[in-house]
Amino acid sequence: MKIAILSKSRKLYSTQGLSEAARKRGHEVMIVNHTKCSTVMEKGKPKIYYQGEALDDIEAIIPRVGASVTMFGNAVVRQFEMRKVITTASAQAIEISRDKLKSIQLFSMLNIGIPKTTFARFPKKDDIPELISHVGGTPLVIKLLEGTQGLGVVLAETKSAAKSVIEAFSSLEANILVQEFIKEAAGTDIRAIVVNGEVVAAMKRQGAEGEFRSNLHQGGHSEPIELSKKEKRAAIKAAKAMGLGVAGVDMLPSSRGPLIMEVNSSPGLEGIEESTGIDVAGKIIEYLELKFERKKKRKKKKIKEEPEQLETYQDFEEAVNPEPVVIESTSL
Ligand SMILES: Nc1ncnc2c1ncn2[C@@H]1O[C@H](COP(=O)(O)OP(=O)(O)OP(=O)(O)O)[C@@H](O)[C@H]1O
Ligand SMILES: [Mg+2]
Repeated sequence: MKIAILSKSRKLYSTQGLSEAARKRGHEVMIVNHTKCSTVMEKGKPKIYYQGEALDDIEAIIPRVGASVTMFGNAVVRQFEMRKVITTASAQAIEISRDKLKSIQLFSMLNIGIPKTTFARFPKKDDIPELISHVGGTPLVIKLLEGTQGLGVVLAETKSAAKSVIEAFSSLEANILVQEFIKEAAGTDIRAIVVNGEVVAAMKRQGAEGEFRSNLHQGGHSEPIELSKKEKRAAIKAAKAMGLGVAGVDMLPSSRGPLIMEVNSSPGLEGIEESTGIDVAGKIIEYLELKFERKKKRKKKKIKEEPEQLETYQDFEEAVNPEPVVIESTSL
């Protein structure tokens, strides 16, 4: 295969790891800075250019689109999809997983365990008590919708603390989620890497002493763990709900089972590979190979049966991601 890794920098651990894993398996690899690509649209000919070259012969992509450039990066991913190039993550799945609110709504609808969460637009002083009671009172967690690496995640122990923090965020017109605090997690969370509907690696992250946030950026550390059946099932279900073949699923252990916090469409590989010693990059390349084989088989069959007729965006989705995204609404 000729694989393009869409990444802003070739120096990143994950980019290097994926590139090495692909080369080792005999593939040709190109690292494409998607922020420097241009897409050209004209009737029937979606094209992508990079450094003056048309990327016509790319057969597979691995998007590593940063959160700050989701819209632009996703336009490039979609353009490749329009060219029926296979991808580890569809533009649609990346979009949903980047939207924390939409993701939580989806999990709630699909009966996937989550911390009870509420969202309101810049609540006023008088509306705050109701918001607090929706998540079962204090202690509670307040999260900036756009936060990352543990920044913008606040634990409010008392009603008065919760009120003042929510008021402060509201006055700044910052979008926040107010969430039930999962005390039993005790500063830990679980990151599971799901590839093709299977958990391939998992680690437990533990926050620094006295810290409820387990983020490694906040001084936390990690260790490999063997997930329980319930945890495995929850991770697989969450990845599937997002329509992601490759996903980093973050869960909180709780007395009522694992609770999903977030699903990442381009999980970092450094922490998980170092912690577990598992070649996650290799598993991702294997998944692409499988998709490629499936696409070849489908193509052969299609030519025999009927000419390919693409009429809707859904047709493109199916052509690029032949395995249907089945959304089940069963209990964990
Ligand atoms: N409801 C909760 N109850 C207990 N602990 C929580 C809760 N929500 C988050 N935490 C802790 O805080 C950490 C950071 O929260 P979260 O992952 O939601 O934000 P983030 O890391 O800033 O965002 P992102 O994961 O998108 O980068 C979690 O890893 C977890 O340890
Ligand atoms: Mg996090």
